[in-house]
Amino acid sequence: MTKNMDTTHSAPVGLLTGKVIFITGASRGIGAAAARLFASERAAVVLAARGTDALDRVVKEIRADGGVADAVTMDLADRASIRAAVDRVWELHGRLDGAFNNGAVAQQPGPVDATTDEDIDKQFTVNFRSHWTAMNAEVALMRRSGGGAIVNTSSIGSRRANAGLPAYGAMKRALNSLTETAAVDLAPAGIRVNGITPGGTVTEMIDEWEAATPGTIERISASIPMGRMAEPREIAEAAAWLLSDRASFVTGAIVPVDGGAGA
Ligand SMILES: NC(=O)c1ccc[n+]([C@@H]2O[C@H](COP(=O)([O-])OP(=O)(O)OC[C@H]3O[C@@H](n4cnc5c(N)ncnc54)[C@H](OP(=O)(O)O)[C@@H]3O)[C@@H](O)[C@H]2O)c1
Repeated sequence: MTKNMDTTHSAPVGLLTGKVIFITGASRGIGAAAARLFASERAAVVLAARGTDALDRVVKEIRADGGVADAVTMDLADRASIRAAVDRVWELHGRLDGAFNNGAVAQQPGPVDATTDEDIDKQFTVNFRSHWTAMNAEVALMRRSGGGAIVNTSSIGSRRANAGLPAYGAMKRALNSLTETAAVDLAPAGIRVNGITPGGTVTEMIDEWEAATPGTIERISASIPMGRMAEPREIAEAAAWLLSDRASFVTGAIVPVDGGAGA
C-alpha cells in the first residue's frame, strides 16, 4: 500500500504578507488552490478565468476566511481581455508583486498526425501566446512597483516526448523557453521569472483526459515514484515559495513538482 505523503495541510506562516498576486486559471484546480493558499499566506489575490460564477465562489470562500480576494473575468484566447484583467489589478491595488500564469487547456488526445489544425492553434493561443501577453502586461506594472516575481505553469509533458498530447507538450516547452529568456531579460529590473512542471495532479484536466482515454489516471499514477497524483495544493505550494521573498535568488528555474516522475 502507498504510504500517504500528503502534506497539504501545513499551517500558514505569512509567506506572502503584503504582496498583491494575480492568478490565471483560478476558477478551479491548481489555480483555485493557489488562490486559497496565497490568501492564507496573507497575499491579496486577484483571480482570473472565464468562469465568473466559479471565480466568485472561490473569492467568497477566501473572504469568509478573512482573506483579500477579487475576481476578474478573462479569456486567455483574447489579448485585450488579458491586458484588461492585469490592468484591473492596478485599479484595485495600485501595485502588482506577483503573477501566477497558470491557466491552460488540454488538447484532444492523440498522436502527432491526428492532431488537428484547430487543436494546434488553440494550444498556441491559450497555452503559449496568452502567457506572453500576460507577462508583458504584468511586467509593465511590476516595473512601476519596483520589481516582482512571475511563475508560469508548464508541465512534466514539456520535458521530453509527450505521447498523447503532442501540441500541449510543444507549447509547454515553448513556455519554458520564454520563462528562461524573460528571467535573463528582466533580472536587472528586479523581476524574477520561474516555471513549474507539475506531474499528474487531481483536477478536471486529468478527468477530461481520462474520459477521452480511459486508463490514463491509472497509467500516470503508476509512473509516479511516490505512487500517487498530486493534490492541487501541493503544486501551489511550490509556486507560493517561488513568488515569495524566500526565493530571492531563484530565477530562470523550471522546477519539477511531480513526485519524482521526471527523475
Ligand atoms: N492536472 C495535471 O495533471 C497537470 C499536469 C501538468 C500541468 N498542468 C498544468 O496546470 C495548470 C492548471 O491546470 P489544472 O490541472 O488546474 O486544470 P483545470 O482544473 O482544467 O483548470 C484550468 C484553468 O484554466 C482556465 N482556463 C482554461 N481555458 C481558459 C481560457 N481560454 N481563458 C481563461 N481561463 C482559461 C480554467 O478556467 P475557465 O474554464 O473558468 O476559464 C481553469 O481555471 C495548467 O497550466 C495545466 O497545463 C496540469
